[in-house]
Amino acid sequence: MGSVTLIAPPFDVERVIHIDASRAATLLALARDVPWFLHKTCGQGRCGACAVKVVFRDRSRAPERVVLSPDEKTILYRAGKLTDAELRALDIPASPALWRLACQYVVEDEDILVFA
Ligand code: FES
Repeated sequence: MGSVTLIAPPFDVERVIHIDASRAATLLALARDVPWFLHKTCGQGRCGACAVKVVFRDRSRAPERVVLSPDEKTILYRAGKLTDAELRALDIPASPALWRLACQYVVEDEDILVFA
């Protein structure tokens, strides 16, 4: 069983959510009951307000590179989270951390820290 630890600035607020690996869900859906986590968002990959930094607790389980959809890359780029080179690349280095849209990131059986 994995877990998602949600952390909000100034990093003194956190919530741990344990993941049921048989039920895939996005980060945003997993965090829907956490009152301080990203609620003024579109939920559909359009606004960019749900950009979060994902860090794998066990770096050996982190993917080396991640393929983002063109839409997610565009939104993250507009939010200032990706460089010009990352926008043009087919995949993006994921280690040690990666910017993602919480509404698009489907959590699997993994232990991650999520910085809002
Ligand atoms: S909630 Fe708007 S882009 Fe994710």
